Amino acid sequence: MSAVCSFDELDDGTARQVDVDGVAVAVVRIGDEVFAIEDTCSHASVSLSEGEVWCDEYELECPKHGSAFSLRTGEPSTLPATQPVDVFDASVIDGQVVVTAKTVDADREGASS
Ligand code: FES
Repeated sequence: MSAVCSFDELDDGTARQVDVDGVAVAVVRIGDEVFAIEDTCSHASVSLSEGEVWCDEYELECPKHGSAFSLRTGEPSTLPATQPVDVFDASVIDGQVVVTAKTVDADREGASS
């Protein structure tokens, strides 16, 4: 677990890149909630935290080609990306955003197994 920033430093509806144990993570605030997903797009080596947050959809859009990744599952909802990014556990503790480097075993929507 790592405290990555103060919750008040995050503007609502924005993403920020943070480092969690050497992993680039995009932390996103929507209202009173925080989310953390892998910051590197699964399509190419682009920082997702520089993209636009889609608050109503709980997605983060890649700034390069526009794939939108679920903040809850990491799955892309639009092409060209087809592979998910990792999702991390994020919470607010004593006003600090805390991210756990271990990935969340999310129920990936539409995943086949
Ligand atoms: S680099 Fe992200 S969709 Fe292409």
